[in-house]
Amino acid sequence: MAEYDTLMVEQRGGVTLITLNRPKALNALNSQVLAELLAALAAFDADATQGCAVLTGSEKAFAAGADIKEMSAQGFAEMYGGNFFGGYERLTQTRKPIIAAVAGYALGGGCELAMMCDFILAADTAKFGQPEIKLAVTPGMGGSQRLARAVGKAKAMEMCLTGRMIDAAEAERAGLVSRIVPAAELVEESVRTAQTIADMAPLAVLANKEMVNAAFETTLAQGVQFERRLFHGLFGTADQKEGMAAFVEKRPGQWTGK
Ligand code: CAA
Repeated sequence: MAEYDTLMVEQRGGVTLITLNRPKALNALNSQVLAELLAALAAFDADATQGCAVLTGSEKAFAAGADIKEMSAQGFAEMYGGNFFGGYERLTQTRKPIIAAVAGYALGGGCELAMMCDFILAADTAKFGQPEIKLAVTPGMGGSQRLARAVGKAKAMEMCLTGRMIDAAEAERAGLVSRIVPAAELVEESVRTAQTIADMAPLAVLANKEMVNAAFETTLAQGVQFERRLFHGLFGTADQKEGMAAFVEKRPGQWTGK
């Protein structure tokens, strides 16, 4: 497996565990982190033995934002001309699911990176925020859009305009995270959840991810139509025949990914 400077990557069964590893900078996201994340996720997506990824940070910080020291001296021409942060959209094109396992700070780009994942499991220590306004800027990795979709206008607007952090309980009430886990169990529980997904029929996993994401890009009627067509399509797979036969025969399904 490839070695990275800013990440640790390991495979646990069908789960790829990616740990952000810039402890001295609280996992601040610089260009090298992005390049390495894209490489690690491309390798995960291409590896048929891997069904789900977990992206995590440290106990203190999932990630404390984009690297302010890398950005501070840049001008408009470099930022716009280089499409700074544009590469993060490639990360969201990963076809297999990614769970964000967040403990400690998920601020600015850290919160945005967590929201690019398919769902967030939060440690009881997690803190989410978009503090960019305190630096006289705005979110730049999709935070204003994904946060507004996740928690609604009122809370997204308050968080972006004041930079106020929310704790795990408030994030769960707002629908930003799927559930809260004791910090000491976060990684194990996230890997267990990811393995549950990795054990499902692979084409059904891709289809479920694709159709839930379509809910944020389409009208209701288009989304329902898209769902139904994908559902119909799965009846052309061997795994659908196996899954329904296994249910009737009261045994676990054996998937071929076909
Ligand atoms: N970029 C670069 N370095 C960072 C960083 C960041 N986003 N966040 C923390 N660090 C560095 C600190 O500079 C410090 O380094 P030194 O030891 O060399 O001084 C080290 O990490 C430890 O940080 P602190 O000493 O500040 O730790 P703390 O426990 O006192 O505070 C914190 C923790 C509240 C998270 C604080 O570090 C903080 O406020 N960080 C910045 C948060 C922020 O503004 N994030 C948004 C960035 S902009 C962005 O993300 C744009 C976007 O939309 C993509």
